Amino acid sequence: MPKTIIVSNRLPTKVQRTENGLTFQPSEGGLATGLGSIYRQDGNAWVGWPGLFLEDAAEEDFIAEALRTDSMAPVFLTEAEIQEYYEGFSNSTLWPTFHYFPQFATYEPAHWAAYVAVNEKFCRAVLALAGPEDTIWVHDYQLLLLPALLRRERPGCTIGFFLHIPFPSYELLRVLPWRAELLHGLLGADLIGFHTFGYMRHFLSAVSHLLGLPTQNGLIETPTRTVLVDAFPMGIDYERYAEAAASDAARAHERTYRQALGTGRVVLSIDRLDYTKGIAQRLLAFGQLLGRYPEWVGQVSLLMVVVPSRDQVPQYAALKQEIDELVGRLNAQYRTIDWNPIHYFYRSFPPDELAALYRLAEVALVTPMRDGMNLVAKEFVASKADGRGVLILSERAGAARELSDALVINPTDINGLAEALHQALVMPADEQAQRLDTMRALVKRYNVFSWAKLFMNQLAYSKMKQHTLAPD
Ligand code: F6P
Repeated sequence: MPKTIIVSNRLPTKVQRTENGLTFQPSEGGLATGLGSIYRQDGNAWVGWPGLFLEDAAEEDFIAEALRTDSMAPVFLTEAEIQEYYEGFSNSTLWPTFHYFPQFATYEPAHWAAYVAVNEKFCRAVLALAGPEDTIWVHDYQLLLLPALLRRERPGCTIGFFLHIPFPSYELLRVLPWRAELLHGLLGADLIGFHTFGYMRHFLSAVSHLLGLPTQNGLIETPTRTVLVDAFPMGIDYERYAEAAASDAARAHERTYRQALGTGRVVLSIDRLDYTKGIAQRLLAFGQLLGRYPEWVGQVSLLMVVVPSRDQVPQYAALKQEIDELVGRLNAQYRTIDWNPIHYFYRSFPPDELAALYRLAEVALVTPMRDGMNLVAKEFVASKADGRGVLILSERAGAARELSDALVINPTDINGLAEALHQALVMPADEQAQRLDTMRALVKRYNVFSWAKLFMNQLAYSKMKQHTLAPD
């Protein structure tokens, strides 16, 4: 019976070396949840990096065996590979380019060479598991070359690819010295999925401009095969967030926070540390709100969670410093003896505390400069069963295509953002409920499970079509 193999840079379990030995930490991430029922089925597997550097061969066997019992197969990477393939080409070349920050992009041949080599390493790991008729679903920008590498070795496999970040305009992509290789890499797939039609259009335009291939109605004709391209906006596990927000644990945490904050109103911001998230602009807008509407001084606080990420990449370290300084400056400027404008946390929160933060917040500020989708926006909506709360959402997050009942803003427009904050704080309760109801119905229906199912169905269909269209 044909198997399904999921491939992503990181495995859904993180292995860590502690003083008590190795620990295996399952990921709470949406992707792991959405694909759980697929990769855990008999014979199926998830291939990816377990997140630690090996010390010896015995450790390798031990980890591989432990992960195998939970349907996972590790690809071990060296420190040099992580530096050049992950921090280098993936996060210093592709990430800034695909998020419209070309000024941060580096173009290092050594990073490219490592990216090719690590994609080949992933290919070998998949080939060790994949039969000739299996289905392989590859995820994200770290593995753009993998579909074509797999296709060469397993021409009969059904191969899908999903990009979790934006696909940029052709004008951005064409700057990359390796643009053609990257596009050819993707075209090894039968189906290529994006979060939005906009990203999909950019990809089709890049393929026709840079490779000169005909593209029509989401179909790309390569000399040997037809590749289907489509939009699949990713969702969340709605019930999990709704239930977490209603849980006793979340309510208890909320009471504790409430006691600490008094009667103050809360605006919430949660992100990974990343220059794409617009964190500095958000802080400036909050400062403008307090300057322009002094009635909010002493009344509204920004609760800002920044989750550490990629701190070995220079721009991330610089951004951390910029945020620290801005928070310091604004708190010094506006604080009173018994009130703090900004509560800033540089760490992650466990799920029940996160649920409490969503409960507590009257306004969520989700204002990235660019974001493939942004699931925080959907998590906030799912957590607001009582119909109270306002989502302020960047028009440049993929989620804005679906959540149009949010206050949709341009994140570069600090004035506009400050005004949206004011508007959110004075929005009548019935308007809040109306907007949230519409968004909640959508987030509930188009969840991560329907997303995975839709992609897998379309992948099977694209393979069927491949057979019908294949030249004799
Ligand atoms: O948004 C793209 C993404 O790769 C997510 O899949 C992931 O959760 C996030 O960026 C952080 O990725 P990492 O810590 O692996 O660099």
